[in-house]
Amino acid sequence: MDQLIFATNNQHKVDEIRVVLGDLFAISTLKEAGIDIDIPEPHDKLEANATEKSLTIHQLTGKNCFSEDTGLEVTSLNGEPGVKSARYAGEERSFDANIDKLLDKLSSLPNREARFRTVISLILNGREIQFEGICEGTIIKDRRGGHGFGYDPVFVPAGSDKTFAEMSLEEKSQFSHRKKAITKMIAFLKEQK
Ligand code: IMP
Repeated sequence: MDQLIFATNNQHKVDEIRVVLGDLFAISTLKEAGIDIDIPEPHDKLEANATEKSLTIHQLTGKNCFSEDTGLEVTSLNGEPGVKSARYAGEERSFDANIDKLLDKLSSLPNREARFRTVISLILNGREIQFEGICEGTIIKDRRGGHGFGYDPVFVPAGSDKTFAEMSLEEKSQFSHRKKAITKMIAFLKEQK
């Protein structure tokens, strides 16, 4: 199989996905494929944004590719920040400001349940297929840990007492939404071989 282009500029996502893929499939990032664009995420659903990203790259290159869109869905905030996770506190996409806003909104709410949801859009030989991965967990009151990105310092997955930011990439991958979605994509790709 040709290389798959992973339609992202987020190096953290690339590192996480390479840990899961090992040497099963080779992926190239947008940078490695020589593509320098910021792909729009204009829709109000993860599924539609994932499609937008993979289609944009497919139309540009004609190659097999995949993208993913992830949101943090907090139960007591009716699924917020959800599709707006990256820009929750504003266009500058600051991880710190996003966490501050989230902790502030949750400060008086007893239910701190949340989940990460990832949707992968794969375009293989011109056909799109999507894969979903969910990780349930809790938002804690104060940041812990220095690894990872985004909301990792305040998210504790069910079954652990560490935040994602206190875990190595390998540990995070035992729980992660992204790992679950990628595992489904790998199973599908293996069937095509
Ligand atoms: P997007 O899929 O790049 O649009 O991601 C949206 C936002 O969700 C990111 O900017 C992060 O703030 C957050 N996010 C996505 N995946 C993760 C994760 O695995 N851990 C923590 N935050 C994440």
